[in-house]
Amino acid sequence: MHERIGAACLNIAHRGARGHAPENTLPAFELGLKLGAHMFELDVHLTADEQVVVHHDDDVLRCSDAAQRYPNRPSYFISSFSLAELRALDAGSWFRGGAPTRIPTLDEVLELARAHGRFVNIELKSLPRMYRQLVPRVFECLDRLDMREQVLISSFDHRTLLEARARCQRVATAALSGDRLVRVVEYLELLDADAYHPSCDGLGLHAAVPELDTHTIDALRNAGKHVNVWTCNDAPSMRKLIAAGVSGIVTDYPDRLAPLL
Ligand code: G3P
Ligand code: MG
Repeated sequence: MHERIGAACLNIAHRGARGHAPENTLPAFELGLKLGAHMFELDVHLTADEQVVVHHDDDVLRCSDAAQRYPNRPSYFISSFSLAELRALDAGSWFRGGAPTRIPTLDEVLELARAHGRFVNIELKSLPRMYRQLVPRVFECLDRLDMREQVLISSFDHRTLLEARARCQRVATAALSGDRLVRVVEYLELLDADAYHPSCDGLGLHAAVPELDTHTIDALRNAGKHVNVWTCNDAPSMRKLIAAGVSGIVTDYPDRLAPLL
């Protein structure tokens, strides 16, 4: 393990620099890169007209002015909005100090990443909406921009990862989990996945009796798998993860991580 101390660890901006800017918006991604992130993580959903948009929640109530703009709508789920309806929303002003900005399409964010030569972690938010066309639509975006090999596709829904893998052998995939899993190397082999994305809790970092699961990290790294941990915002935990040899840390504050790398 020790020879990996100080080895490259990626600074991954969670939903952009969401500690400083309205999450999953173009300003948040731009700021993340400016603050030292190597890449960024985003979440995707499908609109009613099957366009891929970047947003975390299933609905748009928390992170937009949807309740004011469309009062008394029967549903605020993204799956009930057309892209044009969603694009009329302000997804920035709800954040303290945030300026008006739109919910971006995946194409827009990929274009930004490509312009900066950066990788993107695309989290497929398949559950619980079960967007049947999410994987094909995401691949259409990747192909439009020729970016199959500039992304890491992750999901809590591991069947969705299998769907992505069946579509493309080259694309990198990552299994997300908030729980403590066992035999993770074998499980990733089963999924033909490239990376494990555990929560801090899943690695024992913020449990009542903190005990970082270095055994799992070592086993995965020795098997050539990536381990990118979310969501870590405090310097002492970041230092522990870097020392343990993780390949990446997903953080709301890339500016806190940058000086430690
Ligand atoms: O990909 C890491 C993290 O984004 C997973 O949780 O809920 O923030 O999408 P969530
Ligand atoms: Mg996410």
